[in-house]
Amino acid sequence: MTNKSRRQLLKLGALVSLIGTTVTGCRINGLLKTPTPTEVKGPFYPVEDQKDKDFDLTRIDGREGVADGKHIIILGHITDIENKPVADAAIEIWQANARGRYNHPLDRNPQQLDQNFQGWAIIASEEDGSFRFKTVMPGAYPASESWTRPPHIHFKVSKPGYTTLITQMYFPGEQLNKTDLLLSHKNALERPQMIAKPVSDEKEIAVYEYNIVLAEI
Ligand SMILES: [Fe+2]
Repeated sequence: MTNKSRRQLLKLGALVSLIGTTVTGCRINGLLKTPTPTEVKGPFYPVEDQKDKDFDLTRIDGREGVADGKHIIILGHITDIENKPVADAAIEIWQANARGRYNHPLDRNPQQLDQNFQGWAIIASEEDGSFRFKTVMPGAYPASESWTRPPHIHFKVSKPGYTTLITQMYFPGEQLNKTDLLLSHKNALERPQMIAKPVSDEKEIAVYEYNIVLAEI
């Protein structure tokens, strides 16, 4: 190889590596999404199976009544870090009722259970990654004498090929968000990912959007 062709080869190598750096940097800075932050599962994951675990937590099959409290809709999309939809992910949801009480034997909260509140659901994302469920605004509840948990919904999202996500979704504008010992330990990038966004409060039902990003294994 002549000196000239060696120099050309070196130039070409430098160009290829420059392009590679630019593309990688761009993907990291602009195109890739950050996976939804994880959170502790908490002590009230359901332990007793129940027949009705559908998308409407405000009603229980076979009962006439509806759950107490403010009825709300949560909707969103599940994507991977490249913003591609994740279809057919299992989305498990559990939460306190409107009074802040879980249907769980370990919950010592003296607030009443709600016989019409489903409390737990397992749904699946659609082909386009979308999901939707109806529930009640969960009540705040005491986690200790000095700590009141803000309204939140627990999520467990799983699909083969992806890291199972266990997290908690919060609501915008809640004063208790600022003092929560879990949420306040998240950084400034993580917190907005964990707080749903209001979509509308029309037709007597509030709608919140909460998007989830899964990491591939
Ligand atoms: Fe909780």
